[in-house]
Amino acid sequence: SPAWLPDAALAPLGTGLVHLPDDGPLTDTLRGEVEHATAVHGGRLTDRPETADLLLLTRRTAGAVAARVEAVRYALDADRRPGELVTARPRPGRWVTARRSGVTVVVGDDPAALLHGAFALLRRPLLDGDVVGEAPAHPVRMLDHWDNIGAHPVMGRVERGYAGDSLFFDDDGVRADLSRVERYARLLASTGINAVAINNVNVHAREARLLTDDLPDVARVAEVLRRWGIRTHLSVGFAAPVTLGGLPTADPLDPDVAAWWAATTARVYDAVPDFGGYLVKADSEGQPGPFGYGRDHADGANVLARALAPHGGTVHWRAFVYDHRQDWRDRSTDRARAAHDHFAPLDGRFEPNVVLQVKHGPMDFQVREPVSPVIAAMPRTALAVELQVTQEYTGQQRHVCYLGPAWSQVLRFAFDDAGDSVATRATGGLAAVSNAGTSPFWTGHPLAQANLYAFGRLACEPSVDPDRLLEEWVHLTFPKAAPDVRASVHRLMACSWQVYESYTAPLGVGFMVRPGHHYGPDVDGYEYTPWGTYHFADRDGIGVDRTMATGTGYTGQYPEPWRSRYESLDACPDELLLFFHHVPYGHRLSSGTTVVQHVYDTHFAGVEAVEQMVGEWAALRGRLEEDVHAEVTERLAEQLRSAREWRDQLCTYFWRHSGIPDEHGRRIHP
Ligand code: GCU
Repeated sequence: SPAWLPDAALAPLGTGLVHLPDDGPLTDTLRGEVEHATAVHGGRLTDRPETADLLLLTRRTAGAVAARVEAVRYALDADRRPGELVTARPRPGRWVTARRSGVTVVVGDDPAALLHGAFALLRRPLLDGDVVGEAPAHPVRMLDHWDNIGAHPVMGRVERGYAGDSLFFDDDGVRADLSRVERYARLLASTGINAVAINNVNVHAREARLLTDDLPDVARVAEVLRRWGIRTHLSVGFAAPVTLGGLPTADPLDPDVAAWWAATTARVYDAVPDFGGYLVKADSEGQPGPFGYGRDHADGANVLARALAPHGGTVHWRAFVYDHRQDWRDRSTDRARAAHDHFAPLDGRFEPNVVLQVKHGPMDFQVREPVSPVIAAMPRTALAVELQVTQEYTGQQRHVCYLGPAWSQVLRFAFDDAGDSVATRATGGLAAVSNAGTSPFWTGHPLAQANLYAFGRLACEPSVDPDRLLEEWVHLTFPKAAPDVRASVHRLMACSWQVYESYTAPLGVGFMVRPGHHYGPDVDGYEYTPWGTYHFADRDGIGVDRTMATGTGYTGQYPEPWRSRYESLDACPDELLLFFHHVPYGHRLSSGTTVVQHVYDTHFAGVEAVEQMVGEWAALRGRLEEDVHAEVTERLAEQLRSAREWRDQLCTYFWRHSGIPDEHGRRIHP
């Protein structure tokens, strides 16, 4: 599937002349794209910049052309004109787009930036008027693949993967045929993704050897990704000096350990000169880490950072550290607190090439969570915010759930009135768990492509309206469909995140899913487990008291005004009420309804919304590609079945526990 890159969706840039001087390895890729686009629309390449309607230049090549073409001067000067959209100095990965007197220019600060900037233009209609702008907001836009080599006995080849097999690996190692990786890289580059970690953060014995024995194969992957301006990263195990190197310890302060990492890393760079770096899940859900040697996470991250620094590499060190073996009877331990408790005191101690990768919420990619307080707490550390494009807790690609609005809300969340948002704090970039695989649609659910698209676009432009992104995606993906068909697809997807939330765990309480695979309802499934994800429902009420006054004190990890807002029962936003407070079922929300009635109402409304989606989609039969229509029809049927199951289990649970009947007298199973 061409996903959002079918020929018919290309902007008609090629009707004129395109000037693209030779500038390094990525020029070939770009030339191929431009030739393709111009062939579709009948334009051609020219050597004479003054005749071109579109100029694609790197900073190196732009200087020579500036004297001859005013639009290029305009783009280059933009840096010096205060008040323009362009204010930053040149930096790796940045591109400037400008239009002057009918001529459009993209100047990339390096060849990869030019490729990504050119794609942004090929995707969109010509800019109107004389404009200038720059992108991207984040230097690193990374996708993490949770892919294994030998299929894991429980998780399979792709952990939390719902889109077929791994694009990179088969049973033996890196696939012999990487042509699908090439097409995937093109898709990613078209949204501005510039980094990919190819293996699972849970590094099992076989994948661990990617770092050593499999380097020639990693180099093959890197060669493909490089053609699209994407750097390759590897997940590595913290115990590698022991498991691969035969050392007696992986203690990060041991000189032999540091020397092993330095030598091993140097060999990686011999094989892959532009290698991006390591992604590490340490002391997390059973993975080894510095705690095992009495060291902290700054010690752990820094030994890897020092090995990578001479080569220009980065450590993405994950902050997903909590006690996954807690006793459910122990009410003093709160998993939500863990990342802040562990990491905030380490602010300022990390090497400059460490990026602390923080999940957007304090728990684990639930449909609704507050923003992680770690993001506000570490001004002296480069932070990356981690999102989950694969829909582990949001319907596993069997349900339609367009996550653009959820991510946008996270990125725009302002910690204070000075406009200090999550997006501005994420100086280390954005990372996300990929939802792609060998499925014919890349994503298992054809409409889940929109999430992959939106992630890349938001990483480049965090302030862009997610509804506009959806419109873009629909437009690009179904360029031949009638406008009313596109409007229908858009309508169906626009609120799908809120719909999913409405029939699943209410008011921010989270989980209530089947343990293990995490699909479908199981209200008490995690209640008496060691995982730290509880809702504490009893006959009187539900929710987790995370206040400073009477609860776990988690609210105290936020700066003001959020600390007070979350602490107060009245000021706490309804949608997060049960995340922060334990309340009686009859507690009145600021919406005016009670908690239990809210559960009944939203669950009935959620199922009705899915019924409507099913009807709306059915009406599109024959008006969209047959295979897409059939696949989505099948998945919507499962979504409806599942939504009803959620509604009936949740409503029955709340009715049985509270004894409070539905005000509207609907049938709730006794
Ligand atoms: C979740 C998910 C795991 C994953 C983990 C992580 O808990 O269920 O499969 O390994 O997140 O982010 O490391």
